[in-house]
Amino acid sequence: MSERKPEKRPDRCNPGGLSFNSQAVHAGNEIDVGSGALRTPIVMANSYALPEDPSTLSWSGTDVPLYTRNSGVNQLGLQRKLAVLERGEDAVAFASGVAALHAIFFTVLKTGDHVVVADVTYEAVFRLFTELLTEKYGIQATFVDVTDLDAVRAAIRPETRLVHIETVANPTTKVADVAAIARIVHEAGALLSIDNTFTPPPLFRPLEHGADLVVHSLTKYINGHGDAMGGAVIGGAALIRRIQLDAMVDVGGVISPFNAWLIMRGSVTLPLRIRQHCASALAIAQFLDADPRVAYVAYPGLSSHPQHGLAIRQLPHGFGGMMAFAVDGDKATQNRFVSHLRVITSAVSLGHDESLIVHVDTSGPRVPAYPVEFRTFGHLRFSVGLEDADDLIGDLSAALDETFRG
Ligand SMILES: Cc1ncc(COP(=O)(O)O)c(C=O)c1O
Repeated sequence: MSERKPEKRPDRCNPGGLSFNSQAVHAGNEIDVGSGALRTPIVMANSYALPEDPSTLSWSGTDVPLYTRNSGVNQLGLQRKLAVLERGEDAVAFASGVAALHAIFFTVLKTGDHVVVADVTYEAVFRLFTELLTEKYGIQATFVDVTDLDAVRAAIRPETRLVHIETVANPTTKVADVAAIARIVHEAGALLSIDNTFTPPPLFRPLEHGADLVVHSLTKYINGHGDAMGGAVIGGAALIRRIQLDAMVDVGGVISPFNAWLIMRGSVTLPLRIRQHCASALAIAQFLDADPRVAYVAYPGLSSHPQHGLAIRQLPHGFGGMMAFAVDGDKATQNRFVSHLRVITSAVSLGHDESLIVHVDTSGPRVPAYPVEFRTFGHLRFSVGLEDADDLIGDLSAALDETFRG
């Protein structure tokens, strides 16, 4: 057999000029020079061959394959792709979304610094800034309602280094006006990091609205298949380089080659999946909202949502696949309702191909920022999957009938 000469197509590997759909297929992927394989294979190697004179090599190098804690082949491809999809200069991948969040905080903050954090955030961020980073490292945090721009401005102090928020908050679906907050943060000389897990591209790109850093749990929509964990931070080259050096090379929570490969594969269908998640979620939110046995529905696509106007402006392509709701009843009623579901699975996580629902008791005083309906009924966090919307509505409808029978 004659030797293969795979064509290197840099325009496809780093396809700045292509549409998002095409970028989702090609970005970060390279034809494998050795085998001619069209998709970058899984490279299960800890270490890569050194050049003839390695003596001047930087052991912190992160841009060519060297050592898998710095720069494995699959990790590099995934990072290139995420930078393209989020319109950043560079990206850094980690073993989980929480590792990516921690990487930002670890890199940017030091003892004595102050952080402004959204009053509704992913659970781990809440604990990091109420217990761990505060008690262990003396970092101060102020929690603020991000829909109140005056409150955001007032919370910033001279020693504020970072403002961290979510585009659409987990689990309340509160929507932050990212461009307005970015202006306030930059006037104060601080950095803005945004957890964009609920609204990945093509829905929203925080860097285009002034954010300095975007963080994703890749475990969720970007992978989309519920079979791999990962996290990433995307942003400007200098800041990402600092995170690579401080939090990736020297703390080491890197993504495995296999998970990076799975997430690369899953992300190819991101635009198609997101379209389906959004269309089904809107139909389902409207169905639930119209049923008197449902106590409330929180979904940015509903006209009853407090930030619906902002959501229309900021998320013109769809409102995402996440909602929270409760049936009209106590804790036991929520559990009974979930037990009657046949298509939708009771499990944590979100953004998977299958629909997932989780009952969380938010009726206590633990997180005072939850809206009154969350505190009264608790909530069911619902990740609308890729099943047919009619099947999901049928499942919810039958479970409501069973729950409230006689
Ligand atoms: C908004 C958000 N950010 C971050 C995370 C953490 O991601 P991981 O579970 O991949 O560590 C989650 C997990 O549910 C999340 O929902």
